[in-house]
Amino acid sequence: MLHFPAFPRIGGVLHCGASSVEDIAREVGTPLYIYNIDSIVGRLRQYTGAFETLPHTTCYAVKANSTGAVLHALARAGAGFDVNSRGELFRALRAGADPLRITMTGVAKTDADIDDALAAGILYFNAESAEECARIDALAARQNLHASVLLRINPDVDAHTHPYIATGLAEHKFGLSGNDALEAVKQFRGLPHVSLDGFGMHLGSQIFDPAVFVEGLDRMLDFIDSIAAELSAPLRVLNIGGGIGVPYAEDETAVAPADVARAIAASFERARRSSWAHHDGLRLVSEPGRYIVANEGILVARVEYIKRSGERNFLLLDAGMNDLIRPALYEAYHHVVLVIERHGGGEATYDIAGPVCESGDTFALARRMAAVKAGDLVAIHSAGAYGAAMSSIYNSRPFAAEVAVQDGSWFVARRRQTLDQIIENETTG
Ligand code: LLP
Repeated sequence: MLHFPAFPRIGGVLHCGASSVEDIAREVGTPLYIYNIDSIVGRLRQYTGAFETLPHTTCYAVKANSTGAVLHALARAGAGFDVNSRGELFRALRAGADPLRITMTGVAKTDADIDDALAAGILYFNAESAEECARIDALAARQNLHASVLLRINPDVDAHTHPYIATGLAEHKFGLSGNDALEAVKQFRGLPHVSLDGFGMHLGSQIFDPAVFVEGLDRMLDFIDSIAAELSAPLRVLNIGGGIGVPYAEDETAVAPADVARAIAASFERARRSSWAHHDGLRLVSEPGRYIVANEGILVARVEYIKRSGERNFLLLDAGMNDLIRPALYEAYHHVVLVIERHGGGEATYDIAGPVCESGDTFALARRMAAVKAGDLVAIHSAGAYGAAMSSIYNSRPFAAEVAVQDGSWFVARRRQTLDQIIENETTG
């Protein structure tokens, strides 16, 4: 049975914590994202606690949800942050993140990305190629700084996940393997402004089997053992990436971070005892995104029309694929519920779609759910991760408003974009 504790039903009305989703939607309008910030912080604490038997740092993957109120709450709770661009770095710093708890990932970092991260004094770069390491070295030299680098290894492990969100197979653009990784390691001897402080991986998203992490880590350790003679200094960090699975649908079973921590403990112990591990200790880093935020957010929409067309029964919303693209892009399942329960209304089957001029602008096909009337509010669950963060203004539909529920009250975390704001950077010649 799917259960979303961040969004309880009280008196038949969906709530976020103690705040009524209906009340918030009436005041702020739709489409509207609502996040339960208290649950997000709770997830961070639970996640970090699960790894406490290991020397571990959680670097929340900012790409999952980069809204300022979310980052601010996570920074206050002591999270580290993994950023994928200078924009995410800017957001993390603005939210009060400690630069020494910020790491930078990204397969094609620009000079501007690297320069900003160097100037901020981040903890380390997750580098993905020899060329990138050389670039970081050159830019660090220019700022007269020294940078810490982890090399991302591609361990060629099948994460058994959707092909669009798997990243750890040899065919993917991410990381390095075999001889290319070895060449990148050797290159460090000639790069005085960077030090190779560790290795990392990220295998993909929605990983439900802890054994996948073990397999990836073991392969990474085999690789490090095989090139240990080439290292110019002992290693301080191993990064196992993100990707812990979160249930969106009835048939998905939650995986506990504690199970992952337990599963990898023996491999980490092996690493700690290796000749290449720093005598001050070896630190484990992980980069959860979805686990922290996915089920702590919803997208609220109003039903504009119910339209019968031939065999199909369309439920047409005022939210579209520009607001939440996951169903269109990955055929992702998102649970949809009525905000206000209706007794005796029965059930119906709908194709749930948005207003965007694309056949792909669909949230669900042939979805069986409580019968709905035009004007009803619906909530699309599991929208806290890769929802607002991946939204666009296609069809000149303004970015949705975002509301944060925290400490028993709520506030607008991001005002709805205005039409003037849509065109503010444009000229007509
Ligand atoms: N670390 C790295 C290097 C990553 O590339 C990612 C996600 C993460 C950590 C966090 O992974 P998570 O714990 O959130 O699974 N837009 C897709 C997901 C793309 C994930 C990209 N990288 C979706 O909506 O499912």
